Amino acid sequence: MAMPNLSESSQPAASLRIAPLTPTIGAEVHGIDLTRPLDDATLAELKDAWARHLVLFFRDQELTFEQHKALGRRFGELHIHPAAPKDAEHPEILVVHGDDKVEFVAGSLWHSDVSCDIEPPMASMLRVVQVPPSGGGDTLFSSMYAAYEGLSDRMQRFLTGLTAVHDGEQYYRGRYGKGTLRDDDYPSAEHPVIRTHPVTGKPALYVNEGFTTRIKDLPAAESDAVLAFLFRHCAQPDYHCRFRWQENSVAFWDNRCTQHLAIWDYYPETRHGYRVTIKGDAPFYNPDRGHRGQ
Ligand code: SIN
Repeated sequence: MAMPNLSESSQPAASLRIAPLTPTIGAEVHGIDLTRPLDDATLAELKDAWARHLVLFFRDQELTFEQHKALGRRFGELHIHPAAPKDAEHPEILVVHGDDKVEFVAGSLWHSDVSCDIEPPMASMLRVVQVPPSGGGDTLFSSMYAAYEGLSDRMQRFLTGLTAVHDGEQYYRGRYGKGTLRDDDYPSAEHPVIRTHPVTGKPALYVNEGFTTRIKDLPAAESDAVLAFLFRHCAQPDYHCRFRWQENSVAFWDNRCTQHLAIWDYYPETRHGYRVTIKGDAPFYNPDRGHRGQ
């Protein structure tokens, strides 16, 4: 039998164990060392687990910036944040930090990363290196497949085909200085309210409190009311999992079908991490694929 062509430093997929956090979203992956290059079989197994669980968690991964970026690149080209300050040597690394001096921490309201980009990132991979000593700083993840499925047929039909505006200014103004903006301005984009996941073909709700400011097809009062309802709906705990970080934990989430919320309950303690983000395509809705999870 032909042996797979594995380099000495990579590891076989057979060692992976996937432990779901909830039936809806989230799984912890055991038996993998992310500092070593991923062979193709392990990559395929991770992609399969990721498509099933939407966010994967790993423990004890002491990645250098180079290893973190190399890992991200196994899934796609790296995205550079449109507003945050960048390290000259590692512009692809986003610093996530909270302490007693900051006035905000990244992600402390429900959002899908950088949905204000015309081609929002497909995925994000965050490693937390310092956790608050008394606990706290967990992250909530919510399945937007489940949020879509949780709507009535009537509401699903009403939302399908509508377009929403995602505005970077709402989220970034006052947080990041204008001097670091990618295009000298805040990004803004229009996306379908219900999108089709390009890999699974499943429909997902794609509006979020962080970036979505209005539904274009509706008068302002109706748009405000529908968005307020949808933001509350996405935040229902039965669509969630909650991840408790340890030093060197890594979370890898799919921005196309999840939202997340970083809980800032640890002030004045410090929490610190680094995120690599992977480019994605413009969201679309395809009526021929995947209505109600087919
Ligand atoms: C983020 O939105 O990327 C931050 C998530 C976190 O800090 O848990």
